[in-house]
Amino acid sequence: MDPVLERIYAITKSEIPAYARHLMVGGGTRGGPVLVRGKGCWVEDIDGKKYIDCTSQSWALYLGYANDEINSIVSEHLKSLSHVHQGFDTLSRFALARKLAELSPKELNRVSFTVGGGPAVEAAMKIAIKNRPGAQEFLCLYDSYHGTTLGTMGASWQSTLAGGKLMAPASYNRLTRQFIRVPNPYCYRCPLGQKPDGCGMLCLTVLRSTIERGVNGPVAGIVLEPLQASGGQVIFPKEYLQGVRDICDEFGIVMIYDEIQTYARIGTFFASEYYGVAPDIIVLGKGLGAGFPIGAIIIRDTLEGFSPESEELHTFANSTVAQVAGMKLIDLLENGVLDNCRAMGERIGKGLREMQQEFPVIGEVRQAGLHIGVELVKDPARRTPAPELFAAVRKKGFENGIIFGLGGTAKNVLKIKPPLIVSPDEADTILHLFQKSLRAALKG
Ligand SMILES: Cc1ncc(COP(=O)(O)O)c(C=O)c1O
Repeated sequence: MDPVLERIYAITKSEIPAYARHLMVGGGTRGGPVLVRGKGCWVEDIDGKKYIDCTSQSWALYLGYANDEINSIVSEHLKSLSHVHQGFDTLSRFALARKLAELSPKELNRVSFTVGGGPAVEAAMKIAIKNRPGAQEFLCLYDSYHGTTLGTMGASWQSTLAGGKLMAPASYNRLTRQFIRVPNPYCYRCPLGQKPDGCGMLCLTVLRSTIERGVNGPVAGIVLEPLQASGGQVIFPKEYLQGVRDICDEFGIVMIYDEIQTYARIGTFFASEYYGVAPDIIVLGKGLGAGFPIGAIIIRDTLEGFSPESEELHTFANSTVAQVAGMKLIDLLENGVLDNCRAMGERIGKGLREMQQEFPVIGEVRQAGLHIGVELVKDPARRTPAPELFAAVRKKGFENGIIFGLGGTAKNVLKIKPPLIVSPDEADTILHLFQKSLRAALKG
C-alpha cells in the first residue's frame, strides 16, 4: 500500500479529536459514525461496525460503495487522462453530452457541464436571464432546496421561516434575495390549508397572481424540483406541473427542473417521463457521475446557449473521470439497474405501507422508485410533525446497523434512498431494521 495511504488509514479513534479541531463543516446531519470503507450498500465505521446505507451518501452513490465496474473503467481511463480544462474538447465529454441529449425529452438537446449541483442551478439561471432580456426575477417553491452557493441559497428552505425560525442562510439575504417563493403542492400538508379533493389547484392560482402582481419585474424563470426531496420527499400531482408548464408558456418564463435528486432514482431517467410534462432546462448533479463530482444542464433547442466569452467557465468543469463514470452508470442503468430501482422501490414502499397499520406514527409513505420518504407524525389525525421521533429512530438505526436520511422542513421525514443496486434481501433488511428501530424509538 502507498505509505501516504497507510498513514491516513492508520489514524485511530482516540486521535480523532486532535484532527477534528482543524476541520470546519458547514452543513449535513453530523453526529454519525466515522466511515472508513464500504462495498455496495454497506459501509463500515472506524470500529468495524457495518451499516446498510439508506442515504447513498447525499443520494449520490447510485451503484453503492466501491463499485467494481466504476472502479475498473475509471482506473483504466486514468492511465490516459484525468483533468482537462473545459477549453479543450474530450471524447468523454462529447459522448456524455450526446447520450444525455438522447435520453432527455427530444427538444432538450444541448448540454453544458459544470462542477456540481449548485453551480448547475446557477448555470440554468444564467440561461434563463439570457433568453428573457430584461427579466431578472426568479420564482421557487416553498420548502425547495437548490444548493448553498450565493446564487442558489435564497432558493433553499433553510433561508425561509422554516419550522418557525430562520436558519443560517438567511444571514446572507442581502446577496441571495433574487427568489420569490410560491406555495408547493404538498398535499399532505397543504400550505394553503386546502384538502386535496376539491382544492381547485389553488397553488397554481397563487403562482399566477404572484407573476401578475407579486414580483418586482418580469420573471426570467421558475426553478423547481419536480419531486421535492429535501423538503420532505414530496411527489407533486401531475396537474400541478402541467399547470406550471402552461403558465410558463403564457408568460414566457423559463421552466427549470432541478433533477439533481430525481435523475434515474425515481425509476425513469428524467421526471418528464414520470410526469409527462417537460421543462425548458434540466439540471443534473449528484448521481450523474456515479460518485464523482459533476453537474450539468440540458437546454431546450429554442433557447440561446452560452457564448464562449467566459460566461460559464470553471477549471474543473470537464472532469473526464466523472464523464466516463457517468457513461458507465448510464450503461448499467439501461441494462437492469433502472428496472431494479423500480422493483426494489415498490418492494420497500409496499412494506412500509403495510407497517402503517401497526404504527400510526407513519403518517404518509411517499415513494417513486428508490426516492422514498416516511413522514413521521405524533398522531395520524392531526398530522403534527414528530421530529423527536425521527431523531430517535435515526439514533436507534445507528445502533441497529442502518443509516437513515433526514428530510422535511419540520425535520420529521425519514428518507430511505439506498443505492439503486439494492438487492431483494437488502430491501427486506432495510424494512426489518426500520421496523426494529421505530419500535425501539417508540419504547423510549
Ligand atoms: C435538489 C437539489 N438541488 C441542488 C443541490 C445542490 O447540489 P450541490 O450540493 O452539489 O451543490 C442539491 C443538493 O443536495 C439538491 O438536492
